[in-house]
Amino acid sequence: MSVAKLITKNFRNLDGLSIDFHPQLNFIVGDNGSGKSSLLEALFFLGHGKSFRTSKVDSLACHETESFVVSVKDSNERQLGLSRNINSGLTTIKIDGQRYSRLSVLAKNIAIQIVTPESFKLFFGGPKERRRFIDLGMFHVKHDFSTLWKSFNRVLKQRNACIRLDNITSNVNNNSMLSYWTEQFCQLSIEVSALRAAYVSEIILELNCWLAILLPSLDERVTVQYLQGWPQKKSLIDVLISNQEREASFGYSLYGAHKFDVKFLLDNKTIETQLSRGQQKLFLLALTFAQANFIARVKLVKPILLIDDIGAELDINSRTALSKAIEKLDCQVIITAIESSVLQPFLGVCDDRKHSMFHVKHGKVSEIYPDDSECNKSEKAMNVE
Ligand SMILES: Nc1ncnc2c1ncn2[C@@H]1O[C@H](COP(=O)(O)OP(=O)(O)OP(=O)(O)O)[C@@H](O)[C@H]1O
Ligand SMILES: [Mg+2]
Repeated sequence: MSVAKLITKNFRNLDGLSIDFHPQLNFIVGDNGSGKSSLLEALFFLGHGKSFRTSKVDSLACHETESFVVSVKDSNERQLGLSRNINSGLTTIKIDGQRYSRLSVLAKNIAIQIVTPESFKLFFGGPKERRRFIDLGMFHVKHDFSTLWKSFNRVLKQRNACIRLDNITSNVNNNSMLSYWTEQFCQLSIEVSALRAAYVSEIILELNCWLAILLPSLDERVTVQYLQGWPQKKSLIDVLISNQEREASFGYSLYGAHKFDVKFLLDNKTIETQLSRGQQKLFLLALTFAQANFIARVKLVKPILLIDDIGAELDINSRTALSKAIEKLDCQVIITAIESSVLQPFLGVCDDRKHSMFHVKHGKVSEIYPDDSECNKSEKAMNVE
């Protein structure tokens, strides 16, 4: 699946936007503040029901307006739309004319992944982003995961409530409630953890193929450590029993499947201490491609990959390697850049029609047709001669 058309109304500075995408490769070029990231944000919003830049949904509406709309038509003629009314706080989702109220329904229909210039700092900066990344893949690839994760979070909430209550009243009733939820919690943690461990080892195999293209000097030197959320060699129940007092003083569950992490190692040292910023970005791109390709193989809904400001941190050699990797990807890619010159390695030969190019200015998008390019002009001139 790919996005054939995107329409926005009052979304940030993009008003009345209507853009027809190429099924494979799309470039969006424009100055600072023209609306490139906003365009990707609109697509991301439709796939996730939230922005990658802000948690304040209402700030996405164009200044002085009270609502915004984002909708897409996919390559199978399906319509997905989302509108938000700021006054009422109501979000309406429509898929092929049918209304839905839960944002989670969006993610089932469209799988969107994004890499921004900030992504690698967040990814290597702490476990939160790594957890989000892995669980996005889990959600699309492991069919039982969504239900299992929902049950886990419900039990986690109950267990945390018991831990807090235990601080206030230490009575027999609450103790037995805590034991009940702890047992469920351990069981679900173990199930989630087994599923995640399997996913992480599948991803690492795929990752090596992409590293061979993007960072060949790292080939065969990268390993991954999956940290399940409690000490590896101990049983979770033993860990929880011996940490009862600590959990009570914190007021929540300190160990369990929600505390998992993945550490990438280069020659047994954490990768972020070994790689430059540009290399870290390439590494994250390799990992994102691995996940996107994996989702595409397993799922009927192919992921759509957004790369914001592709020129940031990457030199010409890295961009050339990236163009080779993108050529091998089996999904739609939408790339933004400030200067069209950074796209040179991606464009290939002049008459190549395997992509579309757009220009954004003050929130208005226009398509640049191959006929407009200098290259074609010279070709035309040659034909006349
Ligand atoms: N709610 C809003 N309503 C109207 N305009 C907005 C809103 N939020 C942001 N803007 C403006 O939209 C413009 C586009 O922002 P955006 O981040 O998409 O630019 P960009 O093309 O990605 O720029 P850069 O190259 O610097 O990353 C900016 O000028 C910004 O001030
Ligand atoms: Mg931007």
